[in-house]
Amino acid sequence: MTDTLDLAAAADLDQDTIDIDAVLGRLVRDADAAAPTSIGFPGATDLDYRRVVTRLGGRLWNNIGNLDDPGGVAHTRVLERAAITWFANLLGMPADDRWGYATSGGTEGNRAALLAAYHRWPTARIYHTDAAHYSVRKIGREMVGAYKVVVRAGPDGEMDYDDLAAQIRRRKRWPAIVVATAGTTMTEAVDDTARIRAVLTEHGVAGHLHVDAALSGIPLALDGQLRFTDGDIDSIAISGHKFLGIPTPCGVVLIRDSVRRPAERVAYTGTVDTTVSGSRCGLAAALIWNAIAVHGREGHRWRAAEARSTAAYAVEQITAATGWRAWRWPHAFTVVLPTPPATVRARWLLATDGPVSHIVCMPGVTREQIDAFVADLADAVRTRIPHPRTPPEITTAS
Ligand SMILES: Cc1ncc(COP(=O)(O)O)c(C=O)c1O
Repeated sequence: MTDTLDLAAAADLDQDTIDIDAVLGRLVRDADAAAPTSIGFPGATDLDYRRVVTRLGGRLWNNIGNLDDPGGVAHTRVLERAAITWFANLLGMPADDRWGYATSGGTEGNRAALLAAYHRWPTARIYHTDAAHYSVRKIGREMVGAYKVVVRAGPDGEMDYDDLAAQIRRRKRWPAIVVATAGTTMTEAVDDTARIRAVLTEHGVAGHLHVDAALSGIPLALDGQLRFTDGDIDSIAISGHKFLGIPTPCGVVLIRDSVRRPAERVAYTGTVDTTVSGSRCGLAAALIWNAIAVHGREGHRWRAAEARSTAAYAVEQITAATGWRAWRWPHAFTVVLPTPPATVRARWLLATDGPVSHIVCMPGVTREQIDAFVADLADAVRTRIPHPRTPPEITTAS
């Protein structure tokens, strides 16, 4: 029976015969088995992309280079352009100052934006909070010689604007590149870009305001809560495999045309090399386009509303049935709770950072999954703790 298959041994390429179907089958079975208890990471699972994968999956689609260039043989630039225009409109990007492309994910979007910012402001200090995604710290480290400043975030994950002002005041001789987050990884906090810009203006500091909106960019924009005009944002990066649940890592980055990096034309590709990577996945661009074509703004708004309602249900059930604390920001899919006992974590794939864990009620997570999680948590709490007691303190967002 293939379920007892030693996957690493079966996949070893140094053997005479390899049962490829057995290996692939086992991967799919493992993923299927893990899916019901995987509620800690933010990939939506409610959309069906098989139409695109079936039609386009049999060849290479390469959108190499700049989006506006003609491209090579098989590419999906026309779909990528349509998708980027949709995102730019949704985010209220000025029609005469827009540029963007489909990336390999949130990290590449952050990298493209921060490289553009650093190219324009080479003496800038780069500010981000301690709740920023690790990719932001990594990109900062890669910018050799750049000065990085970590701004405090509150326990609920949002930037402490007084600390930002204090840090800027000390360095107001230099321009600032500020990275705001729209949906921090642990608590889904959203930094207020209008307040950040106000701090910069108050101190007479010029620079670049980037928003890492990997998780919350689309749902917030659909509600009018994230727009380029909110604090004169210069760039926004969004993941495609999170809210849209695209079945391959991808994303989009939007950068004002007036602030993007100059780039050289490459004769043999016939394109201008404006992007972080050279060859780019045209299948991912088609998948992003498909998600928008099938569901439109209204469909995605509905998906966001349903997911938020599941998250609200999770908070209610966890608190009512187990006495365990749980909270969420009103806009959030993420439910934050004190780290559950090990027995619960052994069965459920949660995201845990020391005393705090979270579940993410992305579109596709059902109330039945929440009920099963709550039942396990209630059992563990009852078995582990003979007398009801208060779980560790965590801050509740207002
Ligand atoms: C806030 C934030 N930014 C960036 C990223 C990186 O995205 P990716 O994994 O697509 O590179 C993530 C992913 O979890 C994230 O949560």
